[in-house]
Amino acid sequence: MDVWLKLLFSCVVVFIVNDRPAVCGGKAMEPLEMMVDDAENQCPNLSGSEGACPGNMEGDAWQMVQKKGNQFVVNDQPFYVNGFNTYWLMVFAADESTRGKVSEVFQQASAVGLTVCRTWAFNDGQWRALQKSPSVYDEDVFKALDFVVSEAKKYKIRLILSLTNNWEAYGGKTQYVKWGKAAGLNLTSDDEFFSHPTLKSYYKAHVKTVLNRVNTFTNITYKEDPSIFAWELMNEPRCTLDPSGDTLQAWIEEMAVYVKSIDPKHLVEIGLEGFYGLSTPNRVQYNPNTYAQQVGTDFIRNHLILGIDFASVHIYPDSWIAKSISDVHLQFTKSWMESHIEDAEKYLGMPVLFAEFGVSANDPGYNSSYRDTLFSMVYKTLLNSTKKGGGGGGSLLWQLFPEGTDYMDDGYAVVLSKSPSTSNIISLHSTRLAIFNSVCSWKCHWGCKKKHVLDTFMYHDDL
Ligand SMILES: *[C@@H]1O[C@H](CO)[C@@H](O)[C@H](O)[C@H]1NC(C)=O
Ligand SMILES: *[C@@H]1O[C@H](CO)[C@@H](O)[C@H](O)[C@H]1NC(C)=O
Ligand SMILES: *[C@@H]1O[C@H](CO)[C@@H](O)[C@H](O)[C@H]1NC(C)=O
Ligand SMILES: *[C@@H]1O[C@H](CO)[C@@H](O)[C@H](O)[C@H]1NC(C)=O
Ligand SMILES: *[C@@H]1O[C@H](CO)[C@@H](O)[C@H](O)[C@H]1NC(C)=O
Repeated sequence: MDVWLKLLFSCVVVFIVNDRPAVCGGKAMEPLEMMVDDAENQCPNLSGSEGACPGNMEGDAWQMVQKKGNQFVVNDQPFYVNGFNTYWLMVFAADESTRGKVSEVFQQASAVGLTVCRTWAFNDGQWRALQKSPSVYDEDVFKALDFVVSEAKKYKIRLILSLTNNWEAYGGKTQYVKWGKAAGLNLTSDDEFFSHPTLKSYYKAHVKTVLNRVNTFTNITYKEDPSIFAWELMNEPRCTLDPSGDTLQAWIEEMAVYVKSIDPKHLVEIGLEGFYGLSTPNRVQYNPNTYAQQVGTDFIRNHLILGIDFASVHIYPDSWIAKSISDVHLQFTKSWMESHIEDAEKYLGMPVLFAEFGVSANDPGYNSSYRDTLFSMVYKTLLNSTKKGGGGGGSLLWQLFPEGTDYMDDGYAVVLSKSPSTSNIISLHSTRLAIFNSVCSWKCHWGCKKKHVLDTFMYHDDL
């Protein structure tokens, strides 16, 4: 009997013993936890290349990710996410000599069960720019983005595509303001990106161009492509020019609806770091510092905007609290995550994705076992929510690099082949989520699609 059969059999037993339907969104937890633990024992090599175990059980058509309550779902099955960031994929794909790295990182990610990658769908006015100037695109770079999107699907990885940057890297709001000035506008702050009508029209034109892009490799329009998990309005938006938060709030309101007007099918998120603002004075205590509430963002208020489907949170105690590694960072990470999971469930009614977390090898006090501790803590905190069918929708580590790209590393890069212990932690978490996601799918198809499979198991002599 192969591991897949053993696993399914053990789960069937649990179902029968408990005599009630298993989990699809939050009830009947103990049997599920047993299943997860049991399945881990049965399938120690789940993430291996043979793919015999639950990760591949979904196996259905490649469908659009959606949201139901506080869960992500694909094809009506839960889709708890273990994923990663590699921001430079498009730029690497634009060059023949580095294009192979894109495939490599997808291949390595899928080998440890990662299913979602967040990356940049912008490069504004810089070297290898996608958008050379407002509404002027480099077709070769666009083809490179096409390649990234089509390549991701080959490895069963879905993409979160971010549409611009708060920071200067790859252009971002600074570049939009430069374009505005070049066009004769009187602009005095980069944050006028969020309010000046002309700059807003530049941004919208970019959104429209990307969403309506027809992929030259697949002929699939981006807005129709299930390989895209979600659109992100901006990486880490902040508007310090207006600490009341009203300016950013208005920008998100306008842009979320705009994205949806072009593409009602995909999920949309903002790209926020997760700081609490003026609307929740009782929650600012969870912020990493007092400055965090003065950057014009407001986690709860911003996410209640029409058109926003799920929440994003980043986790950087090393840049928000102190560079030097200490237990305080771990404590912060746990309470930061738990408070946002609670928000997602109680106030937002949507999943929350921890869209960036990591630690820099350049931080004083860093060692690889600390990184493993941090990753484990993030995953265990999430698993506590997952096991209850909760709002902790997943996490994306910052950041996964293939070998030979060290010159791009800012200290946060995880190279799986060089970090076996981290790799194992990632892989185990993937396995656990895959089991949860697929166990749920069994319930959803109970008595229908997979019934014949169950019948075979229950009456097969070998069992
Ligand atoms: C798991 O993988 C290891 C290394 O690839 C192999 O030696 C071991 O036999 C495998 N175990 C099972 C139960 O397949
Ligand atoms: C540009 O705008 C600033 C502030 O909005 C204003 O004080 C200044 O007079 C303006 N300059 C010109 C040349 O219009
Ligand atoms: C895309 O469409 C073009 C024109 O209709 C066609 O020649 C090409 O074979 C198509 N490619 C794919 C991958 O479907
Ligand atoms: C790794 O770093 C952590 C945090 O700085 C420290 O507590 C721990 O002792 C270090 N472990 C090793 C093996 O150096
Ligand atoms: C998970 O939940 C259990 C039981 O509520 C708790 O004891 C444990 O500390 C939690 N672990 C994490 C990492 O949050």
